[in-house]
Amino acid sequence: MILNASGCLDALAAPEVARELDAFVTKTVTPSPRGGNEPVRIAETDVGMLNSIGLANPGIDRFCADLLPRLAELGVPLWVSVGGFNAEDYADLCGVLDHYAEVSALELNLSCPNVASPAGGVAEIVSAARAATAKPLYAKLAPSPDLREVSRAAAEAGADGLSLVNTIRGLALDERTLAPVLSTASGGLSGPALRPVALAAVFTCFRETGLPIVGMGGVETGRHALELTAAGAAAVALGTVLFADPHAPARVRAELAAESAARGFGSVEDVVGAAHDGTVARRDDTRHKNVVLAGKN
Ligand SMILES: Cc1cc2nc3c(=O)[nH]c(=O)nc-3n(C[C@H](O)[C@H](O)[C@H](O)COP(=O)(O)O)c2cc1C
Repeated sequence: MILNASGCLDALAAPEVARELDAFVTKTVTPSPRGGNEPVRIAETDVGMLNSIGLANPGIDRFCADLLPRLAELGVPLWVSVGGFNAEDYADLCGVLDHYAEVSALELNLSCPNVASPAGGVAEIVSAARAATAKPLYAKLAPSPDLREVSRAAAEAGADGLSLVNTIRGLALDERTLAPVLSTASGGLSGPALRPVALAAVFTCFRETGLPIVGMGGVETGRHALELTAAGAAAVALGTVLFADPHAPARVRAELAAESAARGFGSVEDVVGAAHDGTVARRDDTRHKNVVLAGKN
């Protein structure tokens, strides 16, 4: 299953790209509108991209009134990414979105800069969100050193799945002036440099929690998607690659199927967790499929 990574595709501007996905994940929505950070907010590096968008979004009220009805017309299952600054924000956002049948799942962005990521914070936020909605809840985590504990805390607090990984902090300097390129100095690093980081995170969390995982980080080809799948991802999300290749969803899906078949797997589902030895319990694939495809006609 191929999704987009939150914040990396404007589905209303490129509906034909969104329709290639098994589910569309929105940019993170916060309780109030946010303009985001000052320009410059994007910088290229030789191993990926830096961004400091700063969760620019119209806020939950305008999102529900203006964007959600138009996104629903795409006919693709919708996942809404939500972000806030404390557990109450997340609970409020989930409570509001719980009323919209067109929302298939909620992704909790627990890795934006102003939100605590230690296990205690994640547990509190996921519990609050869990109490506010019956919709499938995915916890999106950063590849932090304490990821094992954090992912377990998310699972125990009621997350149905994990989205791994968000960006990691990086810095680019202007070649001539040696001043930081981004207005915020450092920003989130995405793209190829994240690939081994994402693989390790998915591998670790698959072992630790057994939850369905949406893997992302530098995926550009079917081979990259295959590796994340073998590490334990039941779905793969495309982020930075979409800026360079809007046709990546269909291409990566076809390449992934071919790469799986070339290794003798009957289907891509059979690859999930193949990097682990037999001591790791296989996840319940049916459960994940039902979650991701909920709402698909
Ligand atoms: C321009 C840009 C905006 C992003 N905005 C969000 C966001 O709003 N919420 C979120 O959870 N992640 C956001 N991300 C992170 C991506 O969803 C993804 O986790 C990350 O880019 C790694 O995947 P990739 O290497 O394939 O891009 C953003 C990434 C980029 C490059």
